[in-house]
Amino acid sequence: MQLRTLFGGAAVAAIAAAALGGLYAWTRAAPIAPADAPPAPPPPAVLAAGARVVALGDCMVCHTAGDGPAYAGGLGLRTPFGTIYSTNITPDPETGIGRWTLDAFRRALREGTSRDGHLLYPAFPYIHYTRMSDNDIELAYRYLMTRTPVHAPAPANELMFPLSFRPVLAFWNMLYLRPGGSDIPARQATPIERGRYLVDTLGHCASCHSGLNLMGGERSPAFQGGRIDGWNAPALTRLTAGDAPWTQADLVEYLRGGLAPGHGAAKGPMRPVTERLAGVPREDVEAIAAYLISIQVAPQAKPAPAPATRPAAAVVAGEGPGAQLFAAACAGCHAAQAPMMRIADRPGLARSSAVLGSDPANFVQTVLQGIPWESGSNVYMPPFADTLDDQQIAQLAAYVRTGIAAKPAWNDVAATSAKARKENQQ
Ligand code: HEC
Ligand code: HEC
Ligand code: HEC
Repeated sequence: MQLRTLFGGAAVAAIAAAALGGLYAWTRAAPIAPADAPPAPPPPAVLAAGARVVALGDCMVCHTAGDGPAYAGGLGLRTPFGTIYSTNITPDPETGIGRWTLDAFRRALREGTSRDGHLLYPAFPYIHYTRMSDNDIELAYRYLMTRTPVHAPAPANELMFPLSFRPVLAFWNMLYLRPGGSDIPARQATPIERGRYLVDTLGHCASCHSGLNLMGGERSPAFQGGRIDGWNAPALTRLTAGDAPWTQADLVEYLRGGLAPGHGAAKGPMRPVTERLAGVPREDVEAIAAYLISIQVAPQAKPAPAPATRPAAAVVAGEGPGAQLFAAACAGCHAAQAPMMRIADRPGLARSSAVLGSDPANFVQTVLQGIPWESGSNVYMPPFADTLDDQQIAQLAAYVRTGIAAKPAWNDVAATSAKARKENQQ
């Protein structure tokens, strides 16, 4: 190598290093000094109000790994860029937020910046929490600071470069973070305003229901539907259109109880959301439902709806491999005369968005994974990943789509199933 190019290379390397150093310095916020002592335990009314905020914000869902201790973190969140682990938000002084002041906690939620100044990944939905009211932030803080401290360092993230280099998040924040203040009249709001606050801010519903662009930012306009962990999160702006239109009352039932008469159960990544909402006051869920109804786009004129159940000829005769499989594996619960169908206004498969949707992802995932039983719920479906192969799942899909829901068959169900199996194992 000639001397000139060597010097040139060294100069480029020096400039690059200086630029990275500058970027690092520019993006790193000042640390906030640790608290000397934990805050005094709050009165019971404050604790109860804090529990409500934390339930509406779903904090436990992401900050708890499998059967691990609540809020101790360690859950791996899969993103197209790699896996990010949630951190410990119990009040453990070393590995949790035990020495965080309220200011440090507020800055994390409003700006996505940790106490020591490093930028946080947007898998933590601070772009929504940034608009939390000051009061709600304080309530969440005081509640979390009374949880059982657990010593649990977060596992190292598995991210590809350059995303493993946190300062690049400063650019992402320039694009997607609109830091909020306490501008929400949380208490005096009308139900629709309160609902909007709960959906857009604490509930961060858009992080699944809007879909992400190539930069990992939420698509706009919001709520047009997205993908999460191999499931479709349906559009939330077309709930009152389609073959099985939702009413406000249906939404309240579904969001609080995980089962809507006339539609179906909450499954996959939606299930923990409804489990948390089951524990908040009914008025909050009514506000969410009122807001959702207010954002519906006018339903398009559509042809006369298909009858809810219209078995195709082959089905009446119980012919075809799909019909036989259904009779053997599914009809014990899902046939119209099955005992399960007489408990709690069971909808029947023909009105489920997992069956009516334009692609088979949610049907396939429901059959593969089933619906885990949760105490207090009357919904349980066993997983069939080990008993049915991809071909059989495709045959069942063909039968349920055409025979039960009277809809055209989906394409490529076996391939969807094979892919979902692989992804579910990761
Ligand atoms: C969708 C998943 C998700 C939800 C819901 C969520 N978090 Fe997190 N949170 C994360 C992840 C992932 C991180 C770690 C980000 C990182 O390391 O860059 C994190 C980090 C944090 C941190 C920073 C901790 C530290 O040591 O730097 C705080 C504080 C926090 N979350 C509080 C909350 C609160 C309060 C709620 C509920 C209002 C909440 N989180 C809900 C995923 C989530
Ligand atoms: C032990 C009972 C049981 C068996 C067996 C069963 N399911 Fe289910 N399934 C349920 C329950 C419970 C739900 C939730 C809906 C409800 O409660 O009505 C559900 C929901 C579904 C849904 C989604 C509907 C919705 O809620 O949106 C599909 C699709 C489905 N089942 C397909 C099947 C297929 C295909 C089979 C056979 C391979 C099968 N199920 C076997 C109990 C069962
Ligand atoms: C972690 C991702 C995630 C979050 C957060 C989330 N959802 Fe969902 N949601 C889903 C998925 C996936 C489905 C489809 C699964 C199913 O039908 O059970 C779904 C289904 C639904 C449905 C049923 C739609 C239909 O057509 O069947 C409604 C309504 C809904 N979500 C509302 C909400 C609201 C309101 C919030 C915020 C409070 C929310 N979701 C937050 C993932 C999510």
